[in-house]
Amino acid sequence: MAKHNSEGKVAVVTGAAQGIGRAYALRLAEEGFAIALADIAESSETARQISAAGGAAESFRVDVSDESSVSQLRGDVLATLGRCDVLVNNAGVYPFQLWDEIEYADWRQLISVNLDSMFLMAKAFTPGMRERRWGRVINQASDVFGIVIKGVAHYTASKGGVIGFTRALATELGDQGVTVNAIAPGLTRTPGTMSRQPDPHSVEDPEEMVAFAQGQAIPRVEQPEDLAGVLAFLASEDASFVTGQTIWVDGGLVRV
Ligand SMILES: NC(=O)c1ccc[n+]([C@@H]2O[C@H](COP(=O)([O-])OP(=O)(O)OC[C@H]3O[C@@H](n4cnc5c(N)ncnc54)[C@H](O)[C@@H]3O)[C@@H](O)[C@H]2O)c1
Repeated sequence: MAKHNSEGKVAVVTGAAQGIGRAYALRLAEEGFAIALADIAESSETARQISAAGGAAESFRVDVSDESSVSQLRGDVLATLGRCDVLVNNAGVYPFQLWDEIEYADWRQLISVNLDSMFLMAKAFTPGMRERRWGRVINQASDVFGIVIKGVAHYTASKGGVIGFTRALATELGDQGVTVNAIAPGLTRTPGTMSRQPDPHSVEDPEEMVAFAQGQAIPRVEQPEDLAGVLAFLASEDASFVTGQTIWVDGGLVRV
């Protein structure tokens, strides 16, 4: 197990109401961090699961693409939990729109949620990390940046931006005890991806996702839990000399 010094430390996880964000929040709670669940939707089910497992969490409503909402979140988290040591920028959207269908408003909206949010959240929460000379910023990218498919030009651009921002911020904060890394998941079974399937509540993995997984070196459908261990490692003491990196966690679809 990775070495954690999480006693008294707080992790803010965006998009924690469901999907990968929920798995991240649950895992960091298991590792001993107190968790700020930050989502535009209600995170009560994630909070319930953390509490049932003996962890500590508080829920906050935020629109990560909105400067004043993020500023409010910062105030609320600091007032309630006192600090932020680990920032997990996971919230994101992935509408499928072919090039001829994307309007400028769609582009702006997606870039705002997936990329502007990284800037706003890092501006809000890295000052305390720098003061204490310890911090972790972990940004959610996507392996779409490494494969490139039709229908996601705005999404691919936003996730390429996440990877670039991760490298740049790591360079700015590396001498102050703060590491900045990204995780690039593959196609993962979540409420978001299942909502596009013929039966969103099926307990079986849908045929389309099973077929997609055949291109991976490990040919099974990715689950949120496949990502949580890598996040726990990046938040740990063991990862203190790892920064500016993108870790591809996609069963070996992208091999760089
Ligand atoms: N599931 C995949 O196949 C996959 C693959 C690669 C990358 N990702 C990335 O992982 C992240 C999570 O994906 P998921 O599949 O768990 O998504 P999901 O749709 O299941 O959950 C996303 C969560 O983010 C929240 N959210 C959306 N917009 C928000 C906003 N403006 N402010 C605050 N919260 C907001 C939603 O309410 C939701 O709880 C995203 O960044 C996504 O791009 C997912």
